[in-house]
Amino acid sequence: MKIPLIKPYITDEVKDEVLKVLDSGFLTEGEQTRALEEAVGQYLNVSHVVAVCNCTLGLEMALRALGIGSGDEVIVPDYTYPATASVVNIVGADIVLVDVNPSNMLIDYDVIEKAITPKTKAILPVSLFGCPLDYTRLDALKKKYGIYVIEDAACSLGVKSQNQFAGSLADISVFSLHPRKFITTGEGGLVTTNKPNLAHWMNSYKHFGIGESESREKTAFVQIGTNYKLSNIQAAVGLVQMKHINKLLESRIQLAKNYKRMLLGVEGISLPEYPENGRHSFQSFCIFVEDRNRIMERLRSKGIEVQIGTYSLHMHPAFYNNQKCRVSGSVKGSEYAYHHCLTLPMYYGMTEEIQNQVVHHLVKEL
Ligand SMILES: Cc1ncc(COP(=O)(O)O)c(C=O)c1O
Repeated sequence: MKIPLIKPYITDEVKDEVLKVLDSGFLTEGEQTRALEEAVGQYLNVSHVVAVCNCTLGLEMALRALGIGSGDEVIVPDYTYPATASVVNIVGADIVLVDVNPSNMLIDYDVIEKAITPKTKAILPVSLFGCPLDYTRLDALKKKYGIYVIEDAACSLGVKSQNQFAGSLADISVFSLHPRKFITTGEGGLVTTNKPNLAHWMNSYKHFGIGESESREKTAFVQIGTNYKLSNIQAAVGLVQMKHINKLLESRIQLAKNYKRMLLGVEGISLPEYPENGRHSFQSFCIFVEDRNRIMERLRSKGIEVQIGTYSLHMHPAFYNNQKCRVSGSVKGSEYAYHHCLTLPMYYGMTEEIQNQVVHHLVKEL
């Protein structure tokens, strides 16, 4: 038996579109990349989408676009993938780690305010595992303190807060197209904003600092820039998947419902509590168990690919041995999630029968 954690959606249709790009000879960023940006923009109802080569570089670019750098502080949840915080240091700013709410693993809105100082320039919350953020809370802080919100929406294509898509609510949001995500281009990222000046700056920055011009001979490089482009080959993969996003998302939501029904009331398992006024994408389906590492090992030995949730950053040397990183307040919620969160397999085409097998083996190990 082999039950994978996730399976990328790679069909003949995807392969055909990639072949077409390969045959065309236009391999770098171009027509397919523009089409992917447009498809995502329409889907999310956001004015600007900037494709990049991964989410991490997209986050770094977002901070730079907002002018964040040396002497500034950015508030980041302690429970997240290291990329969320690393980019803050990479642009020269200081990381301020705050706790997450252990019931849903999102940044604890109540503690953000205590971490704000005159140096705070932005909050970088994560819609972790596809769980929608509360923009009523974030917008209130933004207004009160005049700070930016950058959403690490790595896991969040298709997520909705109230009735709006993640990607249209923050100053800048950044999605990942890594193969753990249900829309994937291998490596890739999408940066979204409704602010034309930011989109304009980022489009130039990721493209060697190029200015607008009608022809190659009139090209001017107007700022120092870099190369964060997403190739046509990669974009072709994402573009086909975007055509099927509703089907892919609905399947995840249904699989999550099945798991919840199967696991509800099982002693030794607790489920995260999700906000009711939004749509969770179940990019990861997480549960909490006491003896997580032993259970994980046992399930893996049976061929069931399970995984931890993510990391408690303050417990890692990159962050605790770091003059430009501080922890604000207690981070007990983050530590709880780090030790007890377990991610179960979920992929398009997974049957209820396979889910039953996962649950059967899981319950035996409790
Ligand atoms: C919350 C979060 N932020 C950032 C990233 C980095 O994304 P990428 O691998 O596309 O750079 C990940 C990766 O999975 C993530 O989970």
